[in-house]
Amino acid sequence: MSYYLILMLKPICIVCGTTGAGKSDLAVQLAKKFGTEVINADSMQVYRGFDTITNKISHEEQENVTHHLMSFLNYDQEYSVPNFEKDARRIIDGLHAQGKVPILVGGTNYYLQSLLFEDSTLSSIDPPLSHKVKHPDEGILNDENADLMFPYLQKVDPLMAERWHPRDVRKIRRSLEIYFHTGKRPSDIYKEQSSIKKSKLKYKTLLFWANAENDVLMPRLDTRVDKMLHQGLMNEIQSMKSVINENGFTPDLTRGIWQCIGFKEFEPWFQNSSQETFQACLDKMKISTKQYAKYQKKWILNRLLPLCVSEQKLRPSSILFSVANTTNLQKWHEQVERSCNVFSCFFNNQKLPPMTEEEQGVLEKVKKTLLTQDKDTFSTKFTCDVCLDKTGHPFVAIGEDAWQTHLQSRKHKMTVRRMKERATRQERIEAAKKAAMERRKETA
Ligand SMILES: *[C@@H]1O[C@H](CO)[C@@H](O)[C@H](O)[C@H]1NC(C)=O
Ligand SMILES: *[C@@H]1O[C@H](CO)[C@@H](O)[C@H](O)[C@H]1NC(C)=O
Ligand SMILES: *[C@@H]1O[C@H](CO)[C@@H](O)[C@H](O)[C@H]1NC(C)=O
Ligand SMILES: [Zn+2]
Repeated sequence: MSYYLILMLKPICIVCGTTGAGKSDLAVQLAKKFGTEVINADSMQVYRGFDTITNKISHEEQENVTHHLMSFLNYDQEYSVPNFEKDARRIIDGLHAQGKVPILVGGTNYYLQSLLFEDSTLSSIDPPLSHKVKHPDEGILNDENADLMFPYLQKVDPLMAERWHPRDVRKIRRSLEIYFHTGKRPSDIYKEQSSIKKSKLKYKTLLFWANAENDVLMPRLDTRVDKMLHQGLMNEIQSMKSVINENGFTPDLTRGIWQCIGFKEFEPWFQNSSQETFQACLDKMKISTKQYAKYQKKWILNRLLPLCVSEQKLRPSSILFSVANTTNLQKWHEQVERSCNVFSCFFNNQKLPPMTEEEQGVLEKVKKTLLTQDKDTFSTKFTCDVCLDKTGHPFVAIGEDAWQTHLQSRKHKMTVRRMKERATRQERIEAAKKAAMERRKETA
């Protein structure tokens, strides 16, 4: 992108953070101060109704600031990244036309990520036809040769083969297509591309991270769940259940509104409405809420901020992150004031206030992450010795990141636990057999 176009990037402000970290409030304060509007980037808050269970900011708390993309979708509809990008872009364009800086706020970090950064994966390499080299082995791309493609790629471009899952036919075929069409190894093309390090930034971006320390945040989240109970959480869960009963379907708990934290956690209570079950469900909901917050934090530190920092190297004046420490709510106003100051300086191209110690700490952490991620670009494969994938083969994770995620996953932990139980059972059986044999020997 040319210098001229860099100057033309339009402004956008992001407020990210975990649930309960105060990001919605910060967004409202910024919007009020700078006379602009807020766009929701939370995949659950797009649904109409279910205000409590999805943690929507109340009408009063919105303080007359317009909130877009909130409460407009019916429960039986699904929403995805492309939907969000399209809808958000339309509103962003409208606000830009009025000279306003759109403020996006939400916990669905992959919505934010896809809005901010152009995706430039290998699949975007489309070699011009004039370079097309007719290759004698191209027949291997036919569907019936799916099993041969991976070994072939291993032979012609082992580095690239290392990157893909052996059964990810789509990516393997794409790599081979590039190989046949360009006559070059895809890993070489990839290296060329990444050494150029093209900017992927779509807007002049200021990203606030509303962050509270875990020792304060976790109890705060427990309290928040208790507060939700008083605000009518159970009525909402009941009405979700009646929607299901009236329409006679089995909801997929991994899609749409049914994924929201609280609904699935209270499922046992519909089977047994005892006080004990209720308490157990409530505890489960608190645990899920806290797990989700930790997951969000990890995403911000390991993905969103690294993207920001590596863009910053390319375009120092076009992207900035700032941390609002919301640990101590008594210092809330200070934090809002500083954030407003950063906002004003950044978008008016004035000298920025110095980084806080906290921001420097975050920056150091992110730089370390970036170093290891660079090493992982051609990442290693990890095969799990206990889990199988859908096709019954050993589960394979590509890259340290995916591997760590797998090790932490419920599925893996459950499989390990089951194997252990089976092993102890087997041991007991063996021991009993042995004892019986000894006894038999003795009596003989
Ligand atoms: C919101 O707008 C209403 C009507 O214009 C006004 O009475 C009220 O004070 C405003 N509230 C806030 C928090 O600004
Ligand atoms: C419901 O759960 C309680 C406590 O766990 C148990 O004592 C009771 O028998 C259960 N009731 C039914 C109908 O399963
Ligand atoms: C955030 O603020 C709290 C309380 O004011 C403080 O104890 C903590 O050290 C701060 N966090 C960081 C990372 O500076
Ligand atoms: Zn596993």
